[in-house]
Amino acid sequence: MCGIVGYVGQQSALEVVVEGLRRMEYRGYDSAGVAIVNAEGLATDKRAGKLANLEKSLAEVPLPPATAGIGHTRWATHGAPNDVNAHPHVSEHGDVAVVHNGIIENFAELRDELERTGTELVSETDTEVTAHLLSRAYADLPDRPDRLAAAMRVVCRRLEGAFTLVAVHRDHDGTVVGARRSSPLVAGIGTGEYFLASDVAAFIAHTRDALELGEDQVVEIDRERGINITDFDGHPAEGNEYHVDWDAGAAEKGGYAWFMLKEIAEQPAAVADTLRGRLSAGGDIVLDEVRLSEEDLRDVDKIFVIACGTAYHAGLVAKYAIEHWTRIPCEVELASEFRYRDPVLDRSTLVIAISQSGETMDTLKALRHAKEQRARILSICNTNGSTMPRESDAVLYTRAGPEVAVASTKCFLAQITACYLVALYLARVRGVKYGDEVAAIVAQLRGMPALIEQTLATMEPVRELGRDLATAPTVLFLGRHVGYPIALEGALKLKELAYIHAEGFAGGELKHGPIALIDHGTPVVVIVPSPRGRNIMHGKVVNNIQEVRARGGRMIVIAEEGDDAVNAFADLVIRVPVAPTLLAPLLTSVPLQVLACEIADARGNDVDQPRNLAKSVTVE
Ligand code: F6R
Repeated sequence: MCGIVGYVGQQSALEVVVEGLRRMEYRGYDSAGVAIVNAEGLATDKRAGKLANLEKSLAEVPLPPATAGIGHTRWATHGAPNDVNAHPHVSEHGDVAVVHNGIIENFAELRDELERTGTELVSETDTEVTAHLLSRAYADLPDRPDRLAAAMRVVCRRLEGAFTLVAVHRDHDGTVVGARRSSPLVAGIGTGEYFLASDVAAFIAHTRDALELGEDQVVEIDRERGINITDFDGHPAEGNEYHVDWDAGAAEKGGYAWFMLKEIAEQPAAVADTLRGRLSAGGDIVLDEVRLSEEDLRDVDKIFVIACGTAYHAGLVAKYAIEHWTRIPCEVELASEFRYRDPVLDRSTLVIAISQSGETMDTLKALRHAKEQRARILSICNTNGSTMPRESDAVLYTRAGPEVAVASTKCFLAQITACYLVALYLARVRGVKYGDEVAAIVAQLRGMPALIEQTLATMEPVRELGRDLATAPTVLFLGRHVGYPIALEGALKLKELAYIHAEGFAGGELKHGPIALIDHGTPVVVIVPSPRGRNIMHGKVVNNIQEVRARGGRMIVIAEEGDDAVNAFADLVIRVPVAPTLLAPLLTSVPLQVLACEIADARGNDVDQPRNLAKSVTVE
């Protein structure tokens, strides 16, 4: 949600900043803007719409050369996505330019104060107040090398809410200053050059040495004085240094038309990497960071999974395995609802937070609520060093690599895999499963990347179907057991990418209402459970198929190889390889991803950056 970049060094700041914005455009694409600073002063340009609009404007009227600058790609919260509301925001005297991610909750109060004391605000954003406040705070301070950072500290102490701010001042052509509270900010450390960004992707082409800023810290990057970090009161502070283990190529399309297609293709590797090295010789699962003892885990008597969107669907899939393998009751909750319903939590509750970004504000707030109630927190996350892992008692990283397309695919599969590892670990620690039983399931999991690969190789009929369904007004999805969350996920993918009405239902619910939606030719995608698993369920789903067919529905059936019971009732059968019941979602979700991608593409939509969405939702 909003991408921020700052640069100071020897290269063209504009080039570095615009390139960084391009890599972060997935975070928001309502508008984009840049500010550069050189010995002559400050210059900015900003445009509504995608980054391409800004690039066009910069090509027509170039900004002066500079080696320090900032940039922003916006996902609008306060104020419409137009040129005026685009960032950077500049103070009334033109001395300061600021970019911001997050929400300043007390902005109305600050805006009143600024207006009462003579400042005229030009935009509808909450961000603009920070530019004026920073300019005023700077003016009130004596001259000193870190004057801009000191002014930033003054401003941050007055702000409420969640924010990352990055700013430049016209009198400091070698300095960029940043600050963060509950919103991501990383620094990149190159040779004689420094970067600030919402995400390492912005500077990965220049350096892989990163430093994660802590909560309530101000950072100054200065061409001469290097990098300096303090808390909001000016006390020296330290960030968390790390080396990024993927390179710029991982965040590029690599010949695919869309990042989403590349990421769908990367799913076998995402699952394999998430499993790699996670099982010790003794059958123990190796978590990345554990501040919980085996005793703590033995005491767990209830599990809550909290997550949003696709990550929530991963949790819904995992619930079946968690309860089956551990025998611990498990509830899966939308993180945005969790803390408002006063859940019953205590020291023996394990809360599993699932998040690709590790920054989703709804999940983060739910996590903090659980922590306040003394629950143990384990996070499953794809972004090293992000806020959720830092605030959790234990962490298991999904090793899916950077996911750039806004719609999550490979992280979904990696999240399910990671949840399964956690479930197996709990089952082993609590003595519900023996080490060899755990190892047997892990071996089945290890077989899944090859089966996902096989599934990917047979997607041509799905692509054809996608082109055919491009004008469908509605598509329904049905599933049971682990197929139910996959139906929900299939519908979500279609809604967000194709902007087509889509709904997922539990097969058993069909007769309780949704069947009224079936009209002649309504496409209905059914995820059929394996006849070899709980075969009673298989029969029930086949009944559902017949019920829909009898009412004129167009049946698209996803069934495992060899399941011929469905043939007579299906308009199209999409085959997936045979897999254990609980692991089948790693396969059945693949055709649904491909279908949504293909329909969106056929409708001429931007698959990677669907309208109104952003990759990382850092506001509530
Ligand atoms: C949908 C999608 C979103 C995210 C959700 C949570 O394709 O990607 O629904 O799953 O916004 O994001 P994270 O996982 O970053 O917490």
